[in-house]
Amino acid sequence: MSDGLEVNGLVTGYGKQEIVHGVSLSAQAGHITCVFGPNGSGKSTVIKAIAGALPAWSGRIVIDGTDITSAPVHRVVRHGVVMMPQGGGVFPRLTVEENLRMGGYSIADAAHVEERVDALIEEFESLKRRRRVAAGSLSGGEQMMVAIARALVPEPMFVLLDEPSAGLSPAMVHDTIDRVRTLRERGVGVIMVEQNIREALPVADSIYILAGGREQFSGSPADIRDDAQLMALYMGG
Ligand SMILES: Nc1ncnc2c1ncn2[C@@H]1O[C@H](COP(=O)(O)OP(=O)(O)O)[C@@H](O)[C@H]1O
Ligand SMILES: [Mg+2]
Repeated sequence: MSDGLEVNGLVTGYGKQEIVHGVSLSAQAGHITCVFGPNGSGKSTVIKAIAGALPAWSGRIVIDGTDITSAPVHRVVRHGVVMMPQGGGVFPRLTVEENLRMGGYSIADAAHVEERVDALIEEFESLKRRRRVAAGSLSGGEQMMVAIARALVPEPMFVLLDEPSAGLSPAMVHDTIDRVRTLRERGVGVIMVEQNIREALPVADSIYILAGGREQFSGSPADIRDDAQLMALYMGG
């Protein structure tokens, strides 16, 4: 499939501990692919392996026909896949614009990075008047916007968002999911881990449910009959 990201039989873990036991997943540009599952089910581990932050033990990860299995983060970024880690990973002592510049570290042309930073600050309303403020002084929701904007600096084909709404107020959860919807509109593929199923399910084009490092379900939101079935899948039943 072109414009696609394919994960095939991914096995990985930490030290000697195998955590992910053969997960397959496919995502397309311009689509939102959601990954759900209980705490500790391996969602972040899968995301980190795709992003190159954790080597795959076996299996394959292919972006647009190019094998990026176990490629280091900077090479994965150059192939158009960028991760926003759980919690956002914003540098609190750096200003908003400095944080965004960090997102351009894989781009050699500094002037181009500045153009991207300016364009994104213009686009993210809440960041405009705060560009020279330390990111640590912003609200949780604003910090998440910094994290998302930073991920967009290298103009990725795919962004991997690990729980973007975690710890935010209900209003900010809504704004954040809304922002994810605008990423899809501009053709970016989103792979999003979310605990907030109620907000995420309506924007999902396809969903995966992990439990115990294995896929319990993959399909479209319409394939899930009701909350009882969702809960059963969630519990690994
Ligand atoms: N850096 C790490 N070192 C060792 N074990 C880890 C590490 N990160 C996560 N784990 C373990 O891997 C399992 C899956 O974690 P994770 O992928 O973070 O789950 P999820 O994101 O679904 O909550 C958990 O049992 C967790 O304790
Ligand atoms: Mg996680």
